[in-house]
Amino acid sequence: MNKKTIYLAGGCFWGAEHFFQQIGGILGTRTGFANGNTENPTYKEVYTDTTGFAETVRIEYDADRMPLEKLLNLFFMIIDPTSLNKQGEDEGTRYRTGIYYTDEAELPAIQKVYAEQEAKAGEPLSVEVEPLRNWYSAEDYHQDYLNRNPTGYCHLPLKTFVYAKLLSELELLLGDEPDVIARMSNTVAMIHGRLHFWWTGFYIVKPDMSGEGEELVLGPFQGPEACFRIRKGRGVCGTAWARNETVVVPDVHEFPGHIACSSLSQSEIVVPVHDKDGNFVAELDIDSKDLATFDRTDKEWLELIVKLIYLQ
Ligand code: SME
Repeated sequence: MNKKTIYLAGGCFWGAEHFFQQIGGILGTRTGFANGNTENPTYKEVYTDTTGFAETVRIEYDADRMPLEKLLNLFFMIIDPTSLNKQGEDEGTRYRTGIYYTDEAELPAIQKVYAEQEAKAGEPLSVEVEPLRNWYSAEDYHQDYLNRNPTGYCHLPLKTFVYAKLLSELELLLGDEPDVIARMSNTVAMIHGRLHFWWTGFYIVKPDMSGEGEELVLGPFQGPEACFRIRKGRGVCGTAWARNETVVVPDVHEFPGHIACSSLSQSEIVVPVHDKDGNFVAELDIDSKDLATFDRTDKEWLELIVKLIYLQ
């Protein structure tokens, strides 16, 4: 155990705290106010947006299990790092994003993640990086808010919390099991079981029947029976392979060449799986019985989840 503390401002602290509570290696969280100009502020005072405080979660974590870089990359999953003083519909300097540290030795790790995220965003970030000047706990009412009020306000999509917990638990479950099919099987089971999709499965790049080319062949899945083989460029699956990128289809009936394994499928997402050398080797295909089930949140989390398939 290597207990550390970091203070992260990620918009409304109800959602940010709940997010960190889903992640393995987090030892404790508390909502509060950081880097402001008064002492012992109340929520009401901070809400006036004149105190300089940012809604900030104090996070205690086990750095052996959850290194700071990994924790910060997860933090970036729940913020728009280029948005100044606004996250979701919440606006004001109290909703600014920030990384506030108490130990100078953490700065290189913070700067490394910051630079990577800035390169990913392709524009300067609005996330503050500063030493923690002060932090005051928020009132009890603001602690553990979404656990106590599951239908309460949250600026984050609720599936974010399901994905965060799933990612943490799946990583633990897969451990160092070397067999890829076994890893895929439990990945499918966990996604399908937690998010209740219509069909969840992998297609794997394998030799075609002639032995001269390659095609996608059905791998571990849950849901109704499905097509065995799909050629490159065919359907949503073959398109994701040809493009080597995630394809989100809000209405499969509008997608030219969609392959209807099940007539009940209405929307779909297909996410490439790469081996440790970066080769496209398989894909995760998920179907929904509802229209427009998948969006950016699903895309980003599923892209992280499939990185667990091949041991790095
Ligand atoms: N609909 C896919 C085929 C696979 S099934 O959804 C399981 C496609 O168009 O490629």
